[in-house]
Amino acid sequence: MDDLFSKNDLSSIGIGTWQLGLKGWGNDYDETMAMDALRLALRSGLNFIDTAEIYGAGKSESLIGQVTVTEERRKIYIATKVAGFNATARSVENSLNGSLKRLQTDYIDLYQVHWEPSIYTDLEALFRQLEKLMKDGRINHLGVSNFSKGMLAKASEYLGDAKIESNQIKFNLVERPHTDLLRYMEEHRIKLIGWSPLGQGFLTGKYGSGKRPSGYTRRVNRLFSKRNLARWEPLLETLRNISTERDITPTQLVLAYERELGVYPIPGFKNIKQVNEIAGSLKVGLTQEDKDLIMKICDQTGVFTTSGTMSPRIIPNFIVKMMSLFI
Ligand SMILES: NC(=O)c1ccc[n+]([C@@H]2O[C@H](COP(=O)([O-])OP(=O)(O)OC[C@H]3O[C@@H](n4cnc5c(N)ncnc54)[C@H](OP(=O)(O)O)[C@@H]3O)[C@@H](O)[C@H]2O)c1
Repeated sequence: MDDLFSKNDLSSIGIGTWQLGLKGWGNDYDETMAMDALRLALRSGLNFIDTAEIYGAGKSESLIGQVTVTEERRKIYIATKVAGFNATARSVENSLNGSLKRLQTDYIDLYQVHWEPSIYTDLEALFRQLEKLMKDGRINHLGVSNFSKGMLAKASEYLGDAKIESNQIKFNLVERPHTDLLRYMEEHRIKLIGWSPLGQGFLTGKYGSGKRPSGYTRRVNRLFSKRNLARWEPLLETLRNISTERDITPTQLVLAYERELGVYPIPGFKNIKQVNEIAGSLKVGLTQEDKDLIMKICDQTGVFTTSGTMSPRIIPNFIVKMMSLFI
């Protein structure tokens, strides 16, 4: 089977659906609106949908299933994730079957391990089991998320014919993983799926020290602190200026720029207006001058370097599972 990211009919950006879990992202949207927006996304050519079993404890997958079941399945690419606490040889099949049922499908296009499994996990048994599940047709492509360079190398060793095709990590204009990880992924042709490509709304330019996002999810996001809003104001201003000149929006500019860096962005959305704007970025191309200017400002203001990994692996699975109820 061809690599997922070399398919001609795959849209050049995808969409994220953590928001469809309908928790923690503020109260300014509802289930019907979110489902209508997802339908519009598919109609607008955004045919890669990212979700996870933990988003709203299965809610996001269920809503996607209700929308996609009436669409032509082969024209949509569905990516979901097994939670790190279920990523064991013994539990993964159960998680996969749960996702298939909620998504109302009999295969997953890209199945990802959501974060590095705990240190008590037999990694070799897990990846062998995942390969077995691929052979019986329930998984078409394998990916991981929030994996460090070392863990990517280890996991790849345990696979036979299968290959890790992608690593989904936080990537946006102001938050980047270590260059080491990026270099390793490039060398091994592992696609970078960028989560929080809009910095959870920070890069859209609509927030400032007088206007913070609602909902508890973003309360812990350092980007929305007074200090960081001030630090990146020159970048936000540049994005506003370029987009006004080009008659596009900062959201479209940011997504087009990240795509040109070779990243596969998966912006989250809440309503039809946002989906329309995201879909509009599919057609946006940037001039070298635009790119140079954005890069120059980023160099001047600096960026946060992220480790690429997420949860401390020492915490036992049952504790992480309890914490995930808020996601
Ligand atoms: N693998 C992982 O560990 C992991 C972690 C996090 C996320 N993800 C995935 O990545 C996806 C995207 O990341 P994210 O949701 O954290 O952040 P994001 O895509 O950077 O930001 C999404 C938020 O930006 C705002 N927005 C979207 N489109 C907009 C537009 N056109 N104009 C203005 N504002 C707009 C919306 O919030 P407001 O309207 O409220 O501002 C939306 O909820 C998630 O949905 C999920 O699928 C994966």
